[in-house]
Amino acid sequence: MKKKVRTAVFPAAGLGTRFLPATKVIPKEMLALVDKPIIQYGVEEAIESGIEHVIIITGRGKGAMEDHFDHSFELDATLERRGKTELLEVSRHVATMARISYVRQKEPLGLGHAVLCAKELVGDEPFAVILPDDVIDAEVPCLKQMIDVFNEREGSVIATQTVEGPAISAYGVLAGSPDPKNPRIFNCTGMVEKPKLEDAPSKQAIIGRYVLTPRIFELLETTTPGAGGEIQLTDGIKALLKEEKVYGYTFEGKRFDAGDKFGMLQATVEFALKRPEFGEKFREYLKSLPL
Ligand code: UTP
Repeated sequence: MKKKVRTAVFPAAGLGTRFLPATKVIPKEMLALVDKPIIQYGVEEAIESGIEHVIIITGRGKGAMEDHFDHSFELDATLERRGKTELLEVSRHVATMARISYVRQKEPLGLGHAVLCAKELVGDEPFAVILPDDVIDAEVPCLKQMIDVFNEREGSVIATQTVEGPAISAYGVLAGSPDPKNPRIFNCTGMVEKPKLEDAPSKQAIIGRYVLTPRIFELLETTTPGAGGEIQLTDGIKALLKEEKVYGYTFEGKRFDAGDKFGMLQATVEFALKRPEFGEKFREYLKSLPL
């Protein structure tokens, strides 16, 4: 019988050096996009996609995430006493929104290693990986779109976006060909990490969402460390490709790299403009700037 995708793994043990000095003490996953930490956007996307269990891979100094998704008795009691019912609801919602487990990655040995840390908790079933830095604004949650493809095609699915020109060199890039039946699906035959423009096998750049079969765990266990002594997830997926079908999927929606200062600025402007309570005011403010 086909197994359902019930679990999402959030690797969040990286050092976040691109966002220093903000991330010296505060985990980058806790940086606020408007008024919510970026990891909360990912957890909400997972829940809206039917995920029942969230596993966050944490590391040293990342305790704020655990506190965030927990009850804060002092805060809740104070809000209750002051009659701030709406804010109390916001605080309680965050603590109860998901079933969350935490696994500690003791050393940042790479994204592949971080995913491998979830092996025992995931067990022998397909699962999702969400990189919390990648915040995706979509009508149908990106992960839901991917799970639909996974269920239909019965193969692992990697989220991609089409990247034109030299910017492609910042991404992992898929090799293969577009699916004849569905132009959003890409039949993947290989992948290249951060290629030069002239060496890029396609314009399909990998972004931070995956739906993977549990075979990936065994393959990651035998993956030798690559660039920078890290175990790369893409090396594990390359091995998976030799045994199983892997698809790229150009999701519908817009992705922001909130782990990067410029990406965070873009996300802040666009998410703020969408907020009913001050979107109009913010639009007027932006228009008034001497740009
Ligand atoms: P990044 O490449 O964004 O690295 O990792 P980083 O260390 O978090 O950030 P910068 O580049 O120094 O600014 C991609 C994802 O993989 C996780 C990160 O937390 C991030 O979500 N990761 C990376 C781990 O969980 N463990 C690792 O060993 C490496």
